[in-house]
Amino acid sequence: MKVLLTGAAGQLGQALIASCPEGVELIRSSRNGGPGLKALDLADASACREAVETYRPDWVLNAGAYTAVDKAESEPELALAVNALAPGAFAQALQEQGGRLLQLSTDFVFNGQQGSPYRVDQLRDPLGVYGSTKAKGEEAVEAVFGSSGEGIILRTSWVIGPIGKNFALTMLRLHREREQLGVVSDQVGCASSTLNLATACWRAVQLGSKHEQPLPPVLHWSDTGAASWFDVSVAVGELGLELGLLKRAARVSPIQTRDYPTPATRPGYSLLECNNTRVALGLEGQHWRQALRAVLEAIPY
Ligand SMILES: NC(=O)c1ccc[n+]([C@@H]2O[C@H](COP(=O)([O-])OP(=O)(O)OC[C@H]3O[C@@H](n4cnc5c(N)ncnc54)[C@H](OP(=O)(O)O)[C@@H]3O)[C@@H](O)[C@H]2O)c1
Repeated sequence: MKVLLTGAAGQLGQALIASCPEGVELIRSSRNGGPGLKALDLADASACREAVETYRPDWVLNAGAYTAVDKAESEPELALAVNALAPGAFAQALQEQGGRLLQLSTDFVFNGQQGSPYRVDQLRDPLGVYGSTKAKGEEAVEAVFGSSGEGIILRTSWVIGPIGKNFALTMLRLHREREQLGVVSDQVGCASSTLNLATACWRAVQLGSKHEQPLPPVLHWSDTGAASWFDVSVAVGELGLELGLLKRAARVSPIQTRDYPTPATRPGYSLLECNNTRVALGLEGQHWRQALRAVLEAIPY
């Protein structure tokens, strides 16, 4: 099976490369290319189409995205090109050539106001530019593939991994640098380790390749449980000490979102209902704190 991976230099991309199953020919791409990487700029829809025509993949695993949530507010056109027009171009080219698409998406397609976990079939209502461009990307994939199972949208939340830019690594650094941290406690969701998320992606590709029983067109994946950013920050301090990554942890105080203004509005409660996806993929969930421990243990030094 041939898979074209985008965002190969990102945190999920790296985990997907590390866990690539045997028998998969993986074509890795990033914006500028590099050793072992093809250059593919997701802001260029015709380049996305040409990549499908050139490599003729069985799947495009679209892990690349414009993920700078706050910066997206001032770069809406670029965010739209990368997050919506690129998946649309992949979907069209793949449909013409007989390939499939796994499109990564986000809890930020929801407004976070309902106070209970979001099911896969709920209406999108994003709050900011990032969420709205990702929602448009989902719509573009759905417009081409419908519920055929050939274009699968996998939504995830609060992605953390041992490499790259993410909340867990930022908190680890801040615990080292500061005595005291204020972290928002009124945004609730669930972390998703890149290690577990990559397993879910590869399982979706494997099961989604079977013609007899298509997967649902939308999947939800995060680790299990629920937490606020404050909870995750406290856990990073505790686990960092336990694992010898920190000599001392900062004192963490809960603050309100209104005390930490950001350009983009974030959903207050964006837990994803993932049980059905776990059953569909035949995977057990891991509690977010255990998953966080595994992420911290895997940090390369
Ligand atoms: N991170 C999260 O908390 C989170 C939460 C929910 C869903 N997701 C989704 O999960 C997926 C994986 O995210 P991630 O956490 O792995 O993000 P990431 O670490 O930011 O990786 C995204 C990758 O996409 C690349 N990219 C951005 N613009 C590009 C362009 N024009 N052409 C080619 N590549 C480009 C980035 O390259 P540069 O570094 O060069 O920009 C980066 O390597 C994305 O679909 C994201 O929307 C993420």
